[in-house]
Amino acid sequence: MKDNYYFDNAATTWPKPEAVYQYMDSFFRSHGVNPGRSGHTLAVEAEQMIFATRRMLADFFGHSGDPNRVVFTQNATDSLNLAIQGMVSSGDHIVISQLEHNAVLRTANHLQRDANIACTMVEADNGGYLDPAAIASAIRPETRAVIVNHASNVVGTVQNLVAIAEVAKQHGVYLIVDSAQTAGVVPIDMSCGIDVLTFTGHKGLFGPMGIGGLIVGESVDLAPSRFGGTGVDSASLYQPDTYPHRLEAGTVSIPGIAGLHAAQQWFAELGASLNAGADGHQALCSRAVQHVHQREMAHAERIAAHLRAIDAVTLLGDSPGDKVATMSFTVAGMVAQQVAEMLDADHYICVRAGLHCAPQAHAAFGTADDGGAVRLSPGYFTEDEDVDHLLEALSGLLE
Ligand SMILES: Cc1ncc(COP(=O)(O)O)c(C=O)c1O
Repeated sequence: MKDNYYFDNAATTWPKPEAVYQYMDSFFRSHGVNPGRSGHTLAVEAEQMIFATRRMLADFFGHSGDPNRVVFTQNATDSLNLAIQGMVSSGDHIVISQLEHNAVLRTANHLQRDANIACTMVEADNGGYLDPAAIASAIRPETRAVIVNHASNVVGTVQNLVAIAEVAKQHGVYLIVDSAQTAGVVPIDMSCGIDVLTFTGHKGLFGPMGIGGLIVGESVDLAPSRFGGTGVDSASLYQPDTYPHRLEAGTVSIPGIAGLHAAQQWFAELGASLNAGADGHQALCSRAVQHVHQREMAHAERIAAHLRAIDAVTLLGDSPGDKVATMSFTVAGMVAQQVAEMLDADHYICVRAGLHCAPQAHAAFGTADDGGAVRLSPGYFTEDEDVDHLLEALSGLLE
């Protein structure tokens, strides 16, 4: 018996690769200085690590432009706020989907109520997929951007970004993609037509909490929505126009970026170990990411098959199609929170019950008004014996 069995990787991945903990600790000890502010050697070296991380992330996500357009933030929420608010102005219209996290939903609603930005919410089908034609129909002459997540944090459905990007391009609107649930799990190539990609560090990218980012493609510029020190052009009364300073005000998180740095190297080494060869960072990481996905999906498919066989269980949006290893279910006669509490208290199993910060997605699946659902999300470090333990506990509890 372990102390705990972690099936909440959609909330945050845990544990992280050992190299991430080690590098964060050692770099913070050796270079825990304020980068970009002071000209001394330590600050310059810290800045070099940060730039190397921007460059690795640019490669990782297929951004062929200036690596300085990889901007660090606190998390996906912060990135989405910067991206959306930096793109729209009064009178604009945006298109979002029913599957969006509150990071998009609330931002859109506040803009609609307080800043004269109209918003159309496109529905998902019963399986949790978006129809690119429905997105096309929602676009108006004043539409500025389409904002969608790559994968749902409730049912794990992966959207067809190539088709959605094609729609955005045909209609001359920008595409902002929230990759919170896919970065590090599904290869993403911004060159398919993504104008702004937002990511969070602490999920599939295997960094710590408190670090995230966005990549602003060369096709667009975002207006800054917060202002402050950058260490450059200090005499100017206004935020510099150049990236990353345009959007990165204040001291960045050295431990957070160091964590992402080590995690990027971990992906590249994993990719190299899967197939000897002198590939670049993007190709190595893409191979590693596919390997991570396969491993997680093997666990997810085992769990889904088990849940389908329990009469009292309904698996939300259970349909074929591209997925990440996140699923949600309800149990007849039981409130989701009750199931989660029993799994935790009796079996040391960590899951997340409720609305998962995506109330409209739950509305789509009919679970918004009665306590939501139980979400299960195995991760790369989940072992077969963890799944054995989970399945046994689910059988005992629900059959
Ligand atoms: C799809 C999606 N978008 C955005 C977020 C927000 O991420 P963060 O809490 O790191 O800002 C999450 C977090 O669960 C998410 O699943």
